[in-house]
Amino acid sequence: MNVERSRAGYCSGEFDLPTLVGLAIGSRNESSVGIFLKVEPNTLIWKGRREGDGSPVVYKMYRNRGCIGWIREGCFQFRVEREYQALSHLVRHGIRCSVPFFWTRGHDPEHGRYEILCMREIQQATALTELVSSGHQNAIDIGVLYVMVRHMHETGFYHGRLDLRNIVRGIDADGVSDYHIIDTPYAMIFPGSIAGTAMAWDDLRQLSGYVYRIWGTEVVRAGLIGYGLGKKESHKMMGILPRSGVPLLMRNLKRFYFGLRLRFFYKYEIF
Ligand SMILES: Nc1ncnc2c1ncn2[C@@H]1O[C@H](COP(=O)(O)OP(=O)(O)OP(=O)(O)O)[C@@H](O)[C@H]1O
Ligand SMILES: [Mg+2]
Repeated sequence: MNVERSRAGYCSGEFDLPTLVGLAIGSRNESSVGIFLKVEPNTLIWKGRREGDGSPVVYKMYRNRGCIGWIREGCFQFRVEREYQALSHLVRHGIRCSVPFFWTRGHDPEHGRYEILCMREIQQATALTELVSSGHQNAIDIGVLYVMVRHMHETGFYHGRLDLRNIVRGIDADGVSDYHIIDTPYAMIFPGSIAGTAMAWDDLRQLSGYVYRIWGTEVVRAGLIGYGLGKKESHKMMGILPRSGVPLLMRNLKRFYFGLRLRFFYKYEIF
């Protein structure tokens, strides 16, 4: 059996990569390469058109990937593959997100070893951080966000990087705005609801830390109640928010622990 083909969402074959030479996108066919949203040494995000139906898509490329990580991901899962699976889970459960179309990977002289995830473009997408920095924080309905996070947790989904950069507001053709979850390479999918577990607590703590700093105590409290947190837990959460964020080492240890819970404890229902 061809291992590549058995991987969900994998797309083999030729892929039209953008060239970054002076960002000379004018010289390329506009239907294949559109506007760059992010140009960084290791990440490239650009808008384009989907082959076939020409619908608007966003491509996210992790490039210049290291050799060891590449081999490891080849044996297990590529980063975009994890992201694809996580987003597919959200789509299946009716949670608004960046809808994934396919992922692929390859090697190129300009981009090195790369992985690409192709997603449906969220119309008029603006990250919540951008709304805040442009002074439009009052346009954000925090209550709706917490309800969406509760729904996400009930499907067994742990995001792992639930900050305001990774939630975008989209506005559709009818002018209706909605929130969408994006950027899920750190997500884990548990076989049952994670509401009330350490994983949900971790996501909530991240989100609430940002909300607290921008909107203050009362907005977080209302959000947590909307999420369904009990009085005691809400109080506990409110108590830790003024402290600074969780150090990277601690974050990694937590991820390791959550990974163990996912692989072993859930299966054998130890707790
Ligand atoms: N499906 C999409 N439709 C429209 N825009 C998108 C989509 N996915 C991502 N974007 C845009 O790209 C930006 C970055 O996306 P993403 O968070 O996935 O990448 P990132 O490398 O983690 O960036 P960051 O470090 O800013 O979080 C988003 O804020 C959004 O503006
Ligand atoms: Mg992000």
